[in-house]
Amino acid sequence: MEDILSPVRSKEDIIFEDSLRPRSFEEFIGQETIKNNLKIFIEAASKRNEHLDHVLLYGPPGLGKTSLAYLIAKEMGVGIKPTSGPVIERTGDLSAILSNLQNKETLFIDEIHRLHPAVEEILYSAMEDFSLDIVIGQGPAARSHKLQLKKFTLIGATTRAGRITAPLRGRFGIIYRLDYYGEEDLAKIIKRSASILNVNIDDQGAYQIALRSRGTPRVANRLLRRVRDYVDVKAKGKITAKEAKSALDMMEVDSLGLDEVDRKILLSIIENFSGGPVGISTIAAAIDEEKDTIESIYEPFLMRIGFLERTIRGRRVTPKAYEHLGFNPFTSPQGKLFKK
Ligand SMILES: Nc1ncnc2c1ncn2[C@@H]1O[C@H](COP(=O)(O)OP(=O)(O)OP(=O)(O)O)[C@@H](O)[C@H]1O
Ligand SMILES: [Mg+2]
Repeated sequence: MEDILSPVRSKEDIIFEDSLRPRSFEEFIGQETIKNNLKIFIEAASKRNEHLDHVLLYGPPGLGKTSLAYLIAKEMGVGIKPTSGPVIERTGDLSAILSNLQNKETLFIDEIHRLHPAVEEILYSAMEDFSLDIVIGQGPAARSHKLQLKKFTLIGATTRAGRITAPLRGRFGIIYRLDYYGEEDLAKIIKRSASILNVNIDDQGAYQIALRSRGTPRVANRLLRRVRDYVDVKAKGKITAKEAKSALDMMEVDSLGLDEVDRKILLSIIENFSGGPVGISTIAAAIDEEKDTIESIYEPFLMRIGFLERTIRGRRVTPKAYEHLGFNPFTSPQGKLFKK
């Protein structure tokens, strides 16, 4: 079964995401500090008729990095050229993109941690003094030539901040980490999406969906579509708290929005390592996931809901998590766990 609570974008999400993407800062719900600061930076740059400083947005998937990148360009009143780290294969590809950028235009590089090192190196001088060193000719006749670029803004996005090299990171003037959304904000996002999708939903219905959305707008929008299908068939098309609840229960959506990987991590620590503490690499090996993925995508959510603790000796599952997964948090003298 596909995991409907996964924060990672699915094929079906792609179809809907463009239409659901916020079109203005007002429509972009939550993340107030980031939004307010960005607005000031944008206004200041516009007043001086200058480009905006380079922006790095990082944080778990589905929290609005791409949406914000597009909003920044829109608010600056400039174009945006979207690309992504793994797509740029050769230095020449990036040089071509950079030399075609207009003044103040934005270049959006998604998954910027996946840039080829040689390609990334081109960015250093481009970001710092808007120049490009290009080599013309080959062998002894080769000459290096400095090409002046227009003053553009680079917007980088990544889920793996830890993988951004220091020289790259150091060249961004504006760096923000997007955080999980609270239920109130998620409910607002759900109501907004519902009106775009022509779905009839009340405040309590939206709130019920928000509770299980893993703090993630992408998951909230996905659950909304699933619940809509359910009420279309079973409840005359209106989403109330009661209908939302029974739809989500029927689909076996976890009451706190834990997805398959979240559960695997917790269960592995509980069953194989007596609840921890255990090192992150050991967990990664046990469940066959990348350490990096666990650290940047799953662990932040589990810590946020108070299910996982970081100690000097490793990660430990909290009694709250045992409870949620149906275990008795108290272990027997042999360290064996009782299933309730
Ligand atoms: N603050 C917000 N307000 C309203 N909708 C939002 C907000 N943040 C995200 N969304 C919705 O969630 C969807 C996913 O957001 P987005 O694609 O910007 O996330 P992302 O951080 O770029 O994810 P990824 O890391 O997978 O690229 C968007 O289609 C948008 O509809
Ligand atoms: Mg994105």
